[in-house]
Amino acid sequence: MTQASDNTSGQAANAEIAGMKKGLTSYGDQGFSLFLRKAFIKGAGFTDAALDRPVIAIADTGSDYNPCHGNSPQLVEAVKRGVMLAGGLPMAFPTISVHESFAAPTSMYLRNLMAMDTEEMIRAQPMDAVVLIGGCDKTVPAQLMGAASANLPAIQLITGSMLTGSHRGERVGACTDCRRYWGKFRAGEIDADEVAEVNNQLVASLGTCSVMGTASTMACIAEALGMTMPGGASPPAVTSDRIRIAEQTGAQAVQMARDRLTIDKILTPAAFENALRVLLAIGGSTNGIVHLAAIAGRVGLDIDMQALDQMGRETPVLLDLKPSGQHYMEDFHKAGGMATLLRELKPLLRLDALTVTGRTLGEELERSGPGFKQDVVRSIANPIYPQGGIAVLLGNLAPGGAIIKQSAADPGLMEHEGRAVVFENLEDMALRIDAADLDVSADDVLVLKNIGPKGAPGMPEAGYIPIPMKLARAGVKDIVRISDGRMSGTAFGTIVLHVTPESAIGGPLAYVQNGDRIRLSVKNREISLLVSEAELAQRALDNPVVEPSAERGYRKLFLQEVNQADKGVDFGFLRAATLVGKTPQAK
Ligand code: FES
Repeated sequence: MTQASDNTSGQAANAEIAGMKKGLTSYGDQGFSLFLRKAFIKGAGFTDAALDRPVIAIADTGSDYNPCHGNSPQLVEAVKRGVMLAGGLPMAFPTISVHESFAAPTSMYLRNLMAMDTEEMIRAQPMDAVVLIGGCDKTVPAQLMGAASANLPAIQLITGSMLTGSHRGERVGACTDCRRYWGKFRAGEIDADEVAEVNNQLVASLGTCSVMGTASTMACIAEALGMTMPGGASPPAVTSDRIRIAEQTGAQAVQMARDRLTIDKILTPAAFENALRVLLAIGGSTNGIVHLAAIAGRVGLDIDMQALDQMGRETPVLLDLKPSGQHYMEDFHKAGGMATLLRELKPLLRLDALTVTGRTLGEELERSGPGFKQDVVRSIANPIYPQGGIAVLLGNLAPGGAIIKQSAADPGLMEHEGRAVVFENLEDMALRIDAADLDVSADDVLVLKNIGPKGAPGMPEAGYIPIPMKLARAGVKDIVRISDGRMSGTAFGTIVLHVTPESAIGGPLAYVQNGDRIRLSVKNREISLLVSEAELAQRALDNPVVEPSAERGYRKLFLQEVNQADKGVDFGFLRAATLVGKTPQAK
């Protein structure tokens, strides 16, 4: 594996210098730089003996705006304990923290900013290894992207999932049940009092969403990549297991520093193959593909969407978690967590992939023991869903590809042709979706434009277009929906996402009109607009697309640099300079 070369920050030159001597500030006199640095840090009461130890940095993403990271103080304390026990010097530092519900216009808009913050602070500050504390949807990918580019020894610590709550005797958890109850409220099945009551129960503790949404998906992916301690994905945030993992993570970071186990030795094509396999087998969030594409791009790898689709055809969904199944993350943990899943998937995995422990995934599986009887992870012979949760679609509506989470879709709609009902953007949809005079039936196909990477901007999770009120009240539970946006991993429905290229840059989606016929065939992996090429070309001439732009600031950078979904919605200049291969390997 070749890491993109980037010596501009002096990172490579500093690789030989350990601890506090690393990455000295430029004053033109190295001896003085170190003298000054030590003087300042001694202001905090450190001794020379402490400062001679390997420095283990801890990226602390605690924030009052991020309840998914609400246990950060406890985790930082436990990591520090582990570092000290192993003979290192822990140094915590803050970075940006991004929570799904507290980030406008969307958390995805800020993921790359967090990745840049993480990367540059890893480069700038003296450290021999870094512990990355992340959990909420965008934080884990942002940290892995940044750490991959900085290429130090790095280990991920997941904050852990929230506990489930109870509403009138029914077990509930964010956020699949949030959507379900909101849907009931919209359909008039429950009143305002009950929807307020359930609002108190959906998030029963701090921690990340309790279903197989993006946060849980990224936790499982991080472990499958070999980037967490074994068993690091599943312990809930408030458990002693989570704190123990934190302590172990700190201790392992010291060992990684001593062994110079840099992240490029772990983020190999084999690791990404395992991660994609796990994404499919857990019925994971479609966002997982976007984030994996972004992380892979940092080490010079592209995701081969066709090979991924083939992998999907041979990988059953084994994990019985909402929204594809019944259980929650705390049940997965009690069922043995990732070791139970990986044991079932063993014949399909690259067991030679190295992990943060310095052992391979196969060796870690051997150490995890034989497993036990449980009902959360199914066997390959008795899956939840016979094929992988995600299928890759192609056609004249999405020449660069689109995806559908088939395990969360209505089987009756996966082969469907219908009339397009078009919304030009989010504002247009908000204005008309619930109008009594909206011309729509359950057989139609809802199309939402301009929610791609540049369109909204930030590719918001608005692909879960609500069922129009008049249809919801008539009992319609699903309808085919298409957009260039993303969808929360906690949502369900027959929903085509990530249409590439997006409408805001003139992709074919931009030229769909009300009444056009659209064909979806998941069996044939097809998404087609049944309009002639000549007609589409004429529409493009009549109404040319003007790409969005901004005058200044981060928004300007974002709109100039952001890539499409197949490249992970990363900024072009942050990806590795050289493409070294594709993953997964086509069979
Ligand atoms: Fe943070 Fe769901 S909002 S994980």
